[in-house]
Amino acid sequence: MGSTKLDRARKYEKEETVKIPAEQRPVFHMSVPVGWMNDPNGFSVYQDEYHLFYQYNPYGTGWDSMHWGHVKTKDFVKWEYLPAALAPDEPYDEAGVFSGGAVEKDGKQVLIYTGVSEIDLPDGKKAVRQNQCVAVGDGIDYVKAEENPVITASQLPEGSSLEDFRDPKVWKEDGMYYAVVGSRAADGSGQIALFSSEDLKDWKFCSILDKCENRYGKMWECPDFFPLDEKQILLTSPQDMMAEGLEFHNGNGVIGLIGSYDREKYQFHREMVQSPDYGLDFYAPQTLGTADGRRIMIAWMKSWDMNLFPEGHRWNGMMTCPRELSVRDGRLCAVPVRELEEHYTDRTEYRGETLRGEMELEGIRGRVMDLSLDLDVSECSGLRILVAKDERFYTEISLDPENEILTFDRTWSGLRRDCVCRRSMKVRIREGKIRLRILLDRYSAEIFANDGENVMTSLILTPQTADRIVFDVKGSVQADIVKHGIR
Ligand code: FRU
Repeated sequence: MGSTKLDRARKYEKEETVKIPAEQRPVFHMSVPVGWMNDPNGFSVYQDEYHLFYQYNPYGTGWDSMHWGHVKTKDFVKWEYLPAALAPDEPYDEAGVFSGGAVEKDGKQVLIYTGVSEIDLPDGKKAVRQNQCVAVGDGIDYVKAEENPVITASQLPEGSSLEDFRDPKVWKEDGMYYAVVGSRAADGSGQIALFSSEDLKDWKFCSILDKCENRYGKMWECPDFFPLDEKQILLTSPQDMMAEGLEFHNGNGVIGLIGSYDREKYQFHREMVQSPDYGLDFYAPQTLGTADGRRIMIAWMKSWDMNLFPEGHRWNGMMTCPRELSVRDGRLCAVPVRELEEHYTDRTEYRGETLRGEMELEGIRGRVMDLSLDLDVSECSGLRILVAKDERFYTEISLDPENEILTFDRTWSGLRRDCVCRRSMKVRIREGKIRLRILLDRYSAEIFANDGENVMTSLILTPQTADRIVFDVKGSVQADIVKHGIR
């Protein structure tokens, strides 16, 4: 049974994607083939390859009529575009095929997503309904189940919202399937519901794993739940957050809840909450587990409140560089996937270099790189690293050693919109030393401090010709610097 909407999307993306020149795209980040992309969906292993789906509107550079786009990769760096996987073509999902997860079952790839529909209420008004649906496929083509929707909001505790119930993330554990789903409790704020199933079609409500209670934003979207280094992590993306110190910022944010999990009772015990990323453009992360035991996280590199994308381009949406997660000293840490190293090109290295005043280093220049800096700042009262710089533009990464604060500022990066440009995070300086790793791609900067203790991801839209890197030091810094180009 063919779907006219899906056929149309597949035909459109096939014809239009080839018209976008490769030089317009990032080099090592996954970008939408054409049109608009938001959340990563169904990030999972299927037949030994990593699959990634995403919220997708092929027809324009704005959010509309959600489909699922589809890519796969063997190394998290080079992505192969596959035909769009799902279109909003059934009564239960005609208002959108929203976010969800994927899992392998009996050789098939099963997608679980939120079907959004609009119903007529008895009083003549319209209302939105969000329910969870499945589609079964072979890695390319998917058939929506006759049983859809397979989880409805009526299964939630009394008083839960019927309209905000979305983004199932699914996994298999001890022969059972589980899914976490975001929803709104009777108090109007977020909660994460856990469901279980033997066959992915008949689902039972298990528990509410955690609740916002109006503390961290409102609705909790896009949950993920997994064990990591003796801890249990609950990731979720709250809407309507309010800034708290340097930890959380206003608007849509992401929180990582670290705790323990009692599997028998389906109870999560939260111990601490932190930002998995302090940057300007990071949302809706999802993870997968690799065969070699790593937990890899990818996120949408954008903020809902700031729709930045290169003007005039027909694609709007990128994912972050996938990251390996760990828990260290009670913190959720993230570093770029090691596979990135297989794509290194040139290498430039400085050992024991003294940075003083304003200076540039030969060979430390470019817009696509992995730059590692081991810095001794004990004799320094302020350090600025200006990247993507020319006579007119620059993006500033600055360190205030005394207060242990790292700040990213893209005010002078060439933006034409009046959007948030600056964000700071607390970092640790141990015995005068700090380690920074900066991933630059054509439109982004991802900063990892102290092997991923703190991470900061942001978009920059500076012309590609601005490729200088300038150090500006008050006092002096002893530095070991390694730069790798990336292909
Ligand atoms: C998060 C989100 C999800 C929803 C999707 C719709 O960015 O709002 O909750 O499923 O986007 O595209």
